[in-house]
Amino acid sequence: MPADRLLTDDALERSDVVANCAMNRERGLDGVNSYAKDLGLHPLDLLRSRLADHGRASWLDLCCGSARALTQAADLLRAPTDSAPIDPAARVAIPSGPAPSGPGRAGLISAAPIRPDGGGDVAGGTQVTLTGVDLIDWFDPAARTAPGLDLHVASVSCWEPGRAYDLITCVHGLHYVGDKLGVLARALTWLSPGGTFAAHLDLASIRLADGTDASRTLRRLLRENRVGYDARRRIVTCVGPRNLDLPFTYAGADDRAGPNFTGQPAVDSHYRPLPTG
Ligand SMILES: C[S@@+](CC[C@H](N)C(=O)[O-])C[C@H]1O[C@@H](n2cnc3c(N)ncnc32)[C@H](O)[C@@H]1O
Repeated sequence: MPADRLLTDDALERSDVVANCAMNRERGLDGVNSYAKDLGLHPLDLLRSRLADHGRASWLDLCCGSARALTQAADLLRAPTDSAPIDPAARVAIPSGPAPSGPGRAGLISAAPIRPDGGGDVAGGTQVTLTGVDLIDWFDPAARTAPGLDLHVASVSCWEPGRAYDLITCVHGLHYVGDKLGVLARALTWLSPGGTFAAHLDLASIRLADGTDASRTLRRLLRENRVGYDARRRIVTCVGPRNLDLPFTYAGADDRAGPNFTGQPAVDSHYRPLPTG
């Protein structure tokens, strides 16, 4: 793909591939359509363990969609006993109709917190902070009032948190982001000591301008930086915080890459290798 045909972040975030109303934005914490199933990790287990050890826990979900999983976590962690099974049809009602698109959507691309209190709910003597970020205001109505849940309409390409997190997830979100490696590297620095990062990343969507096999190179670089990669599930994991210095400079995005392993049209991210050694 010639460099002059690659998209800037601004153009990408207006693309139909990114503002796609057919996307699954409604995964819950557990069950058939869930974070636990797709990540192979249960966010509540991690948060409960942090609560037990430190008396506080925090979860940042990048590209959170409807924020259904965060909302269920807010309810369950606040409950007097949070051991109740998760009801996949929990009280989260998903908005109907197509996702917002077209010219009006541009106004949503800003780091504007929907709730001004910044999260941080004290429940039963413990403190739980839950934060969701998504490009599109497609949040479930229940998410807007969930205790300790702070929602931001912003692009993860430029959004910055004001704190560290014990758990950072990005479930099927990087598929639509331009500078996937840049977001990955920044997010790893936002982990608290011993915090966990888990995100889907399809290495086949990373393209290097010199034609080098990006998958093989990246797997080696991730390994050398003690960042895990499950090639079967296409999940990158890390216990952080971690500085990930990859020898690439972002060149732009291709929203005509076609469907990825999920079957949905996704975005290829193009990089130029930097001289090393
Ligand atoms: C397939 S959905 C997954 C949503 C949620 N993680 C889930 O599993 O239910 C991908 C989400 O990424 C969001 N997204 C795409 N590009 C983004 C960007 N640059 N910044 C923030 N969110 C983005 C989309 O709006 C969409 O909600």
